[in-house]
Amino acid sequence: MSLIYVLLLTAIMNTCSGAMSRGRLTNDLLKNYVKSVKPEPSDGSNFSVTLGFTLLNLDDVDDDNKVIDTHSYIDQTWRDERLAWEPSDYDDVRVLHLPADSVWIPDIVLFNNAGDDYKPIIDMTVLVFSDGTINYIPPYHLKSFCETGKQPTGFFNKMNIERYNELVCKLAFLSWMHDVEEIRLVNRSSHIDLSEFRRLPVDKYQVKSTSVQVDPMKFSCCPGSYDIATFTIVLSKDPKYYHDHASASDHSSEETHDHHRDEEDKL
Ligand SMILES: *[C@@H]1O[C@H](CO)[C@@H](O)[C@H](O)[C@H]1NC(C)=O
Ligand SMILES: *[C@@H]1O[C@H](CO)[C@@H](O)[C@H](O)[C@H]1NC(C)=O
Repeated sequence: MSLIYVLLLTAIMNTCSGAMSRGRLTNDLLKNYVKSVKPEPSDGSNFSVTLGFTLLNLDDVDDDNKVIDTHSYIDQTWRDERLAWEPSDYDDVRVLHLPADSVWIPDIVLFNNAGDDYKPIIDMTVLVFSDGTINYIPPYHLKSFCETGKQPTGFFNKMNIERYNELVCKLAFLSWMHDVEEIRLVNRSSHIDLSEFRRLPVDKYQVKSTSVQVDPMKFSCCPGSYDIATFTIVLSKDPKYYHDHASASDHSSEETHDHHRDEEDKL
């Protein structure tokens, strides 16, 4: 037998036994698993879901309605001890993919939704680690409301070009049905992850800063309070973009300006 043949055969056998171990592991984990039951930490600690927000695209900023349209993913991490295993029992398999709809998943939704889609774009798999840690990283296409930040000053205000130069956009997520006694939300970091962010084709706005906060909140519907994870994006108008637009409409601006002066003269 040639060496290559031996290597190839070993590789095939490894792949087969890996797949078989994964199959056996999947069956063993899900055999008596009831996915409607939320995981409970066996040491009596509070059950928590850690959230991280990665902004991919700022697809649109609707100035009139103050709505932003974003693509993002929201990584969610929690622990489900029912899905833990001993790697040595399964050919050293340490990580397993499972369809997201085969296990319990937290019902995290965007609270200040301005669009139709609360739900992930596609149904994903979850990544399960041998200690029962679960990673779920669904991608979202979301529309959410913003508020105006700082009022324009100086040049922008005089030209009456824009009513504001900053938009503060908050994306607030919560578990739809579980109060803090059942699910605690924890932020993975103090900022939105911008490492994969692609700027707008038209750089009308720049991301000026981001922040993250988790607060308990009460609602009139229900007795308990709910953890709300708020991811804030502060957008500032790009002075360059507005400068270019201002020079393109110089004439009309001048008229506005003159008209204004006439009024002042009359007073
Ligand atoms: C769980 O949350 C409660 C408040 O709801 C808190 O008093 C308690 O200290 C928490 N337990 C642990 C183990 O963190
Ligand atoms: C969670 O957010 C708070 C407030 O922004 C911050 O102080 C804290 O460091 C964050 N936690 C982590 C793990 O980054």
